[in-house]
Amino acid sequence: MARPENDTFLRALLRQPTDYTPTWLMRQAGRYLPEYCETRRRAGSFLQLCKSPTLACEVTLQPLARYNLDAAILFSDILTVPDAMGLGLYFAEGEGPKFERPLREEWEIRALQAPDPNVHLRYVMDAVAEIRRALNNTVPLIGFSGSPFTLACYMVEGGGSEDYRTVKTMLYDRPDLLHRILDVTATAVTDYLNAQIDSGAQAAMIFDTWGGMLPAWAYREFSLAYMERIVASLKKVHDGERVPSIVFTKGGGQWLESIAAIGVDAVGLDWTTDLGTARQRVGDRVALQGNLDPVALFASPEGIAREARRVLDSFGKHTAKSGHVFNLGHGISQFAHPDSVTALVDTVRQYSRGFHEGTSA
Ligand code: CP3
Repeated sequence: MARPENDTFLRALLRQPTDYTPTWLMRQAGRYLPEYCETRRRAGSFLQLCKSPTLACEVTLQPLARYNLDAAILFSDILTVPDAMGLGLYFAEGEGPKFERPLREEWEIRALQAPDPNVHLRYVMDAVAEIRRALNNTVPLIGFSGSPFTLACYMVEGGGSEDYRTVKTMLYDRPDLLHRILDVTATAVTDYLNAQIDSGAQAAMIFDTWGGMLPAWAYREFSLAYMERIVASLKKVHDGERVPSIVFTKGGGQWLESIAAIGVDAVGLDWTTDLGTARQRVGDRVALQGNLDPVALFASPEGIAREARRVLDSFGKHTAKSGHVFNLGHGISQFAHPDSVTALVDTVRQYSRGFHEGTSA
């Protein structure tokens, strides 16, 4: 299995010269696309869609059929891992994810075990393999997982929360129990990502959606330390190709230097961080991914193009060692107009070329 024909995304993550800035969007397959809603209806529910490799493959490819994107991302969810640990994931209509059996009792936490991804998450590995076959080496496929801390938030709360009071109370009162959950979950995430890489994922991204709500000391101890452990154990090469890793902590821009130091290839940034300043802070140590405000997609096509240019201007001119992957600063809204994404992706593809001139040997 060779490099994909369009390897711009992989090259940017590895800080190798490219002709333009590659783009993909978090949640690029989702409810803003009518064809996604159609497939989801056929699947019966979001979870059944995730659990059917054929339908997951179908929706993974939908945004690539519409837009000039430089990567595909596995269609799944971060919460399939705690589901495989026996917590009973379900989606109550209009309420987001929930667990039937959240982790509260000490004996439940002591009994927690990392699942075997090739058994309990076989449907994800089958989807990865099916997507790779369907992509036919056109663009690379991104595999992903939640961070241990973000998964623990849902596992302890039993769903989303305004203030994550239950999990944070555990952090302050019973740090030993939270560390036990994070330890098992870090093993689960490592095995899960490595299984995705074995099945054909060409890059691995860790979504740390809730790490940014922690005090700095707690972020290091309860989120970053576990992501560091995972990154250290990820397969770096598969089929003779480097498999780059990305860590995205929403709200983590203030800790950029610390995140860049854990051994990752790229750091994802939300829209609150100035990209040019971020680049100065980390130099060429890592590639950066991001960071247009997802709400900018509700502006007119001209406004979207202007805001996309603002992000590219902020990053500035590339050198032979710089790397930037254009993305939103968080997932695309279900209310975004599909044509807005065209305006965005086409602007980045064209306008970014000027910043890459003279970088190739
Ligand atoms: O980016 C992609 O296109 C790949 C697919 C993907 C989904 N979820 C599909 C999804 C990815 C990478 C995720 C990650 C995920 N899931 C995160 C981390 C990133 C982030 O957004 O912060 C989190 C926190 C979750 C948990 C989750 N899943 C929530 C909170 C929700 C409900 C919120 C919502 O948007 O409805 C989901 C459901 C979900 N995951 C949907 C999709 C397309 C919508 C489900 C539907 O079709 O009804």
